[in-house]
Amino acid sequence: MKKIINQIKHILKSIIYYSFIYNIPHSRFCPLFNTVRKFYICNVLKIAFPCRYSKFQNKVYIANFSNIFIGKECQINEHTFIQGARIGDYVMIAPHVTILSSMHGYDQISVPMIKQEKKKNIIPIIGNDVWIGTRAVIMPGVRVGDGCIIGAGAVVTRSTEPYGIYAGVPARKIRSRCDSPFEHPKIQALFKVIP
Ligand SMILES: CC(C)(COP(=O)(O)OP(=O)(O)OC[C@H]1O[C@@H](n2cnc3c(N)ncnc32)[C@H](O)[C@@H]1OP(=O)(O)O)[C@@H](O)C(=O)NCCC(=O)NCCS
Repeated sequence: MKKIINQIKHILKSIIYYSFIYNIPHSRFCPLFNTVRKFYICNVLKIAFPCRYSKFQNKVYIANFSNIFIGKECQINEHTFIQGARIGDYVMIAPHVTILSSMHGYDQISVPMIKQEKKKNIIPIIGNDVWIGTRAVIMPGVRVGDGCIIGAGAVVTRSTEPYGIYAGVPARKIRSRCDSPFEHPKIQALFKVIP
């Protein structure tokens, strides 16, 4: 019985999110729009750390709200598509980014791929203080290191090193943001703040 009630609650939350919250306009028109969306995402869906400085824009697709958690002080911009992810603190995600966590099976040549078992819950991890450029794609299971920048339009197929700048298809490191980032005193101080 409890399971059925929880399922009904989940369906109602999804209906409210996708028919109302998802469509509230961008907060550039009115900051209150972000406040409403943030309240719903953090306190009703409980998929993000409730905090004053986070921003969630309109038309952010977050599948069925399982297998996703977003840290504090993040900005998730419009038309982002998230199947599942663990997202750290201080992360900026530009518009039209795609974060994937599942793949269709394709091993059996004699079975149409649509009928093959889907590989689900291959959750990517986005570190702290990451900036993902517009229209980038993060593939299932990759780990985007702390402090990384992912260029616009990049397809990240492999995990990335902390504080690297990656661009292109597939994403390649174009340079580092700094040498030996973890020896940097200010980064050490930041990591004391970030659990
Ligand atoms: C990745 C990025 C931060 C790099 O910026 P940068 O440090 O100023 O880098 P540069 O412009 O000096 O480019 C360095 C090289 O990488 C290439 N490059 C830069 N961005 C690229 C991208 N997105 N895709 C492919 N190659 C890229 C450049 O062509 C250049 O190559 P070259 O050395 O052969 O000429 C930036 O290009 C980017 O993509 N920013 C995201 C912007 C965005 O999405 N904003 C949305 C609003 S939040």
